[in-house]
Amino acid sequence: MTEAILLVGGKGTRLRPLTVHTPKPMVPAAGVPFLTHQLARARAAGVEHIVLATSYLAEVFEPYFGDGSALGLHIEYVTETEPLGTGGAIRNVASHLRSGPDDPVLIFNGDILTGLDIRALVDTHRTSGADVSLHLTRVEDPRAFGLVPTDATGRVTAFLEKPQTPEEIVTDQINAGAYVFRRSVIDTIPAGRPVSVERETFPDLLSSGAHLQGMVDSTYWLDLGTPQAFVRGSADLVLGRAPSPAVPGRRGEGLALPTASVAPGAKLTGGTVVGENARIGEGARISGSTVLAGAVVEPGAVITDSFVGSGARVGARAVLSGAVIGDGASVGADNELREGARVWCGATLPPGAIRFSSDQ
Ligand code: GTP
Repeated sequence: MTEAILLVGGKGTRLRPLTVHTPKPMVPAAGVPFLTHQLARARAAGVEHIVLATSYLAEVFEPYFGDGSALGLHIEYVTETEPLGTGGAIRNVASHLRSGPDDPVLIFNGDILTGLDIRALVDTHRTSGADVSLHLTRVEDPRAFGLVPTDATGRVTAFLEKPQTPEEIVTDQINAGAYVFRRSVIDTIPAGRPVSVERETFPDLLSSGAHLQGMVDSTYWLDLGTPQAFVRGSADLVLGRAPSPAVPGRRGEGLALPTASVAPGAKLTGGTVVGENARIGEGARISGSTVLAGAVVEPGAVITDSFVGSGARVGARAVLSGAVIGDGASVGADNELREGARVWCGATLPPGAIRFSSDQ
């Protein structure tokens, strides 16, 4: 049986303030910590043993997932004393693996939402006889990603980090953040120091003649590293566009967890999720957004593609679009926050403090 390592130790700086109190994989998407979706999908693909490689806010994972039996898994936790980067984290958990030297070990970045056919990736790995196999996806604008060109047989020919010039953009295939390693290859990663699997391990393996195989799978794929992407991913889970066995309710325009209270005249659309004990007031309209546990949205607020942190408050008639409200923050009535606004945890905006229009 295949076992897996999940990389969940990153600081998630691009997601701040969502990641001030919560590591990225524990930020709720569609009503449950994002990691739950990944664990459930791995289990559905036949994985039984998972090692979580933790570092930033490491202490919050085990109290939530325990030994993993609620998900039909056996989960172990390994914490780095200093962050070791993606490759260092993989090496650091090697002693917890049970696989033999030639067995496949799955490795997942902890911030990717995807419909990847996990079994097909393992099959590709077995049939190609590769040392490492990588899930590749195609994107329109590859400049923010690591490019992975392959030959006609799918064998990787280069790793090109964040290309800028048109000549450097030789393919639209990018590293999608899911790998299969031959177990013995993990043992060759240097121990005890930070290593980037993308920038160091993969290029080194390639130049030493190792066989790296790419598998292009163009199903749903989203890197949830930024607030906009995170909110989009959660909405796609609620709408049923992104696959997960762990969404706690029926797919549709809106999902309110059982203890949430939504006024009869409020409207949830576009995959909005409302967390435990959150309250949505009369006439509020919330689209494509995430409202976390205990948050309060007052009457008449209009919230689009935004994230409202736990225990936060959005005042009456406030307008949020593409905004992030940190845990416990309070946005007074009649504020207007647009694309990219981030209100820090616990901050308070007085009523009408920020406007983008002159209608007051
Ligand atoms: P940013 O700070 O916003 O770039 O996010 P990040 O810290 O999560 O970094 P990145 O998105 O590049 O990380 C990819 C994956 O590797 C994520 O699942 C991270 O949790 C994980 N990761 C990154 N660095 C480390 C590390 O030092 N240790 C461990 N265990 N995991 C890591």
